[in-house]
Amino acid sequence: METIVRRIDPRRIDPSAVEEAACVLRRGGLVAFPTETVYGLGGDALDPGASAAIYAAKGRPSDNPLIVHIADLSALERLASSVPDAAWRLAKACWPGPLTMILPKAACVPDQTTGGLPTVAVRFPSHPVARALIEASGRYIAAPSANTSGRPSPTCARHVEEDLSGRIDMILDGGECEIGLESTIVDLTEDVPTILRPGYYAEADIRRILGSARTDPGILREDSNVRPKAPGMRYRHYAPRAKIVIVEGKPDDVVRAILTEVRKETAAGRKTAVLCCGEHEGLYPDVRIFSAGHLAREEEIAHNLYTTLRRFDEEGIDTVYSEAFETPSLGSAIMNRLLKAAGHTVLPA
Ligand code: TXA
Ligand code: MG
Repeated sequence: METIVRRIDPRRIDPSAVEEAACVLRRGGLVAFPTETVYGLGGDALDPGASAAIYAAKGRPSDNPLIVHIADLSALERLASSVPDAAWRLAKACWPGPLTMILPKAACVPDQTTGGLPTVAVRFPSHPVARALIEASGRYIAAPSANTSGRPSPTCARHVEEDLSGRIDMILDGGECEIGLESTIVDLTEDVPTILRPGYYAEADIRRILGSARTDPGILREDSNVRPKAPGMRYRHYAPRAKIVIVEGKPDDVVRAILTEVRKETAAGRKTAVLCCGEHEGLYPDVRIFSAGHLAREEEIAHNLYTTLRRFDEEGIDTVYSEAFETPSLGSAIMNRLLKAAGHTVLPA
């Protein structure tokens, strides 16, 4: 299959490009498109064949459910069998935007889309291209991140092409995604609203909006018996081919420990690099350094993370020693993705 790539300026959307993509979706095809978080791989959410095609293109296990994207609030009542008051409050505060809700599914949502679960994940994205595409298609759009299963999520069209060219019908290239990490997932089917995946909105934000919130214990711990409730959080994910080791401790100790480890790895003949915050770039002489962005501008770190993980592979790096980025608001999402990329390998400094 030849994958058509169409450039589209989010500030001046060309309706003919959107209509071409909408046509592909209406006939059961797959279109990758930009959102404010990461690129999604879209298909008609109510068409079991389109969901099956999404799983096949990504090489994704079919028990891992898809998020259904909508472009108006009334869709919520069509996709969910009941919508609690908390859902409307969250929608009012966070939609359109980087938030996904889990609700009991309506009968119209096929099991293929929800991976056999009785619940459905719904998100109303804010990106103008995503909104235009959903509206033009007249459908609800199931869209996982547009990467090959297990690779870092794509934050620009080039990443999508690397993973899925020849496997999907079309890519709408709307430039870089602003946020760079996937949406916050909040499960509203529990007594207490439960975060299944941290994102742009942290637990404290959700608590401020709903009065209560907790984080699924399954995503905080590793190799425990607690299984994460979002099936996708169980898989090794977001991972480059390079081995990543996160070094934690007081800043001075971390720098010293990283320099020691890098020397050992390099002496053993392995191509080694350091992932550090922008503030620390000058502290690692004679080492290949990747700056994640400045701690003082945490949104920069979120924005750059997946691109940086992909660059490790482009440069054929064997081992990366990384600082931790426990920033105030996005830190839990950043560290959740980095820990997964590192297979939870943490070295105390
Ligand atoms: O920002 C985002 O959410 C992006 C963009 C494209 O919208 N999408 C995305 O989709 O990250 P995906 O498929 O890569 O991640 C969806 C996550 C998976 O971990 C999946 O297991 C979980 O959501 N999920 C989906 N439906 C669920 C459900 N009914 N119950 C629990 N978890 C669910
Ligand atoms: Mg994904």
